[in-house]
Amino acid sequence: MYELLKTDPHSRARLGRLITTRGTINTPTFMPVGTQGSVKALDPRELLDMGTQIILGNTYHLNIRPGLDIITAAGDLHKFINWPYPILTDSGGFQVFSLAKIRKVKPHGVEFRSHLDGSLLFLGPKEAMHIQKVLASDIAMVFDECPPHDSPIREMRAAVERTIRWAKECREQPRAHGQMVFGIVQGGSNAAMREECAKALVPMEFDGYAIGGVSVGEPEPEMMKAVEYTEPFLPATKARYAMGLGTPAQMVELVARGVDMFDCVLPTRVARNGTAFTRKGTISIKAGFNKSDFGPIEEGCDCYACKNFTRAYLRHLLNVNEILGLRMLSVHNSHMYLKVMEDIRASLAAGTFAEFRREFIATYVPSRK
Ligand code: GUN
Ligand code: ZN
Repeated sequence: MYELLKTDPHSRARLGRLITTRGTINTPTFMPVGTQGSVKALDPRELLDMGTQIILGNTYHLNIRPGLDIITAAGDLHKFINWPYPILTDSGGFQVFSLAKIRKVKPHGVEFRSHLDGSLLFLGPKEAMHIQKVLASDIAMVFDECPPHDSPIREMRAAVERTIRWAKECREQPRAHGQMVFGIVQGGSNAAMREECAKALVPMEFDGYAIGGVSVGEPEPEMMKAVEYTEPFLPATKARYAMGLGTPAQMVELVARGVDMFDCVLPTRVARNGTAFTRKGTISIKAGFNKSDFGPIEEGCDCYACKNFTRAYLRHLLNVNEILGLRMLSVHNSHMYLKVMEDIRASLAAGTFAEFRREFIATYVPSRK
């Protein structure tokens, strides 16, 4: 259940909370990504210490490895990975279209070859919901079709129609105890398609609504438009989730456009190549200027990495390929993402989000589109 606590008078930003059987999630929120049942390089205690409220898992990957037999034997995904707090699982709709090699779209789902061993697999609304029931995630996502952003209108329309039909089928499947299910709006950067998709999904009364088909290679203004074309048609009484987004500045701008939930691999992915997120933008810890810098990654950051280690030491660890280096960058980056959301929530509560947004955007230098 979503509770809307406060709306910002100067934008579409909202302060709220999402209540699950495994805990309450204060929104806007960021969900660290644990595709394979682990947030890369971070353990549950570290995630909790940095304020993680909910993590994300993937139906596509977990179904291939370790498979449902192992998860069932363990009890469920929470027990298997020792994370007794909220988990949202993606349905596999996106991964089938982005990862699987050969695929054939059929009326009831997608036949594809595993990206691992080439074995023939099938995933559709029924299968995706069954897998998510076994995983027992707190939030399941419907099985959707995410078409390339530059698809011809005929293909975009076909994907939206399939997404709507599959969403209805997902809505009717059995779920785990207390499990919520979110619909996913597709339609690229086409205003009419977005409206049509949202208007078809809303009467199905999902527990929340995701905006999918964003951050799939389109320029940032197109992505913002896709959200603006969708959000007005979503009910204010349900949580909204922008899938696979974004940079810190994008998240601030998307909160201002009415988004409550985010997930993104950026903080952990860029950590593994030596890049740190700061309020001023990204910096390379490997860079020569950090050679004898005995200050923290970011002045004023109270993450474990910044409280305990210097840039010079972390740079050394990265240069000699010591695992601790990328672990500590993952700690800092994930902490930074979570802290941005915490600051957003505090500013919404205090009625100062407009100032926060202005200052954040003025200070943050974007490094990528
Ligand atoms: N992750 C990022 N984008 C998407 C999307 O459009 N659909 C799904 N299911 N997952 C996503
Ligand atoms: Zn830090």
